[in-house]
Amino acid sequence: MQHNDTLQIIRPDDWHLHVRSGEALKSVIGMTATQMGRAIIMPNLMPPVSNAAQAKQYYQEIVNALPAESSFTPLMVLYLTDNTMTEQIQAAVDGGLVVAAKLYPAGATINSDSGVTDIANIYPALEKMQQLGMPLLIHGEVTDVAIDIFDREAVFIERILTQVVKDFPELKIVFEHITTKDAVDFVLSASENIAATITPHHLLANRNDMLVGGIKPHYFCLPILKRENPHQQALLSAATSGNAKFFLGTDSAPHAKNDKESSCGCAGILSAHCAIELYASAFESQNALDKLEGFASIFGADFYGLPHNKETITLKKQDWIVPDSYPFANTTVVPFMAGKTLGWKLVP
Ligand code: DOR
Ligand code: ZN
Repeated sequence: MQHNDTLQIIRPDDWHLHVRSGEALKSVIGMTATQMGRAIIMPNLMPPVSNAAQAKQYYQEIVNALPAESSFTPLMVLYLTDNTMTEQIQAAVDGGLVVAAKLYPAGATINSDSGVTDIANIYPALEKMQQLGMPLLIHGEVTDVAIDIFDREAVFIERILTQVVKDFPELKIVFEHITTKDAVDFVLSASENIAATITPHHLLANRNDMLVGGIKPHYFCLPILKRENPHQQALLSAATSGNAKFFLGTDSAPHAKNDKESSCGCAGILSAHCAIELYASAFESQNALDKLEGFASIFGADFYGLPHNKETITLKKQDWIVPDSYPFANTTVVPFMAGKTLGWKLVP
């Protein structure tokens, strides 16, 4: 429901989120719990969350770190490795907390060293997931050193994803944090079993934001920001189209300020502090605020076969300045849009 200066929508969910562990987890979990009903929790810890017991332990740690009275629900994800057995998939589903499994090509990103070195190694696991109706979440980039970093998503579609979709026609797949027109076109032309998440930073920024006028490490993430035209434009069109194949996944991925402002800076952008406000800005820029609720609060739940949240949230049209930093364990993290003015604010 939209009046001139307020926007009320069903409470959204975040279908792709990194919350880390330990003190770092305690620093950021409240940001998401304030905004979202549920979130798909990425399993790329050290060591990775690769079996039901680890997922249960991580779930408990997250729940213990939640602010009092929070009704936020973490949805757990299994990290696929070359050695993932079909029994582990079954045990994870039986445990009741794990709703999906994640494919990180080995070496593609932060803590992906235990990832999959050859897609053939997880074919038995994929067969099992297809049978159980468990979605596969994909970090869709090749790791071939010969492939330019800006082309790694498109080449992944060509070399890996096209074949996986053919070999497992009933497997539900979320192509995570898509960044290219190639990915948008692939998802549009694929079956109903193929969906994608889109981050706020890939909607609101492009590689110029990262590189023009000096290198901006807080814009560095994977998959890397692409060109405005055609890629950012294609993401904006897809997200605001009302097509249920595209839904909210922030990929909020906090790193300490010093780990990003470094000669070898980490990939990852914190957006959980104002995720829904960021998406509202992006949708407003396309005159598509009426499409925000589907993208943020309905399509993802439908894809996962989960109920819609019962509560609503309200956004108010109001300028506010994003803080320069937030506390993060014993240090600080610089959030997306630090020091910039946003035009929407979540009403507490
Ligand atoms: O930018 C990223 N950061 N991309 C990923 O795929 C992982 C994430 C992280 O865990 O920091
Ligand atoms: Zn991620």
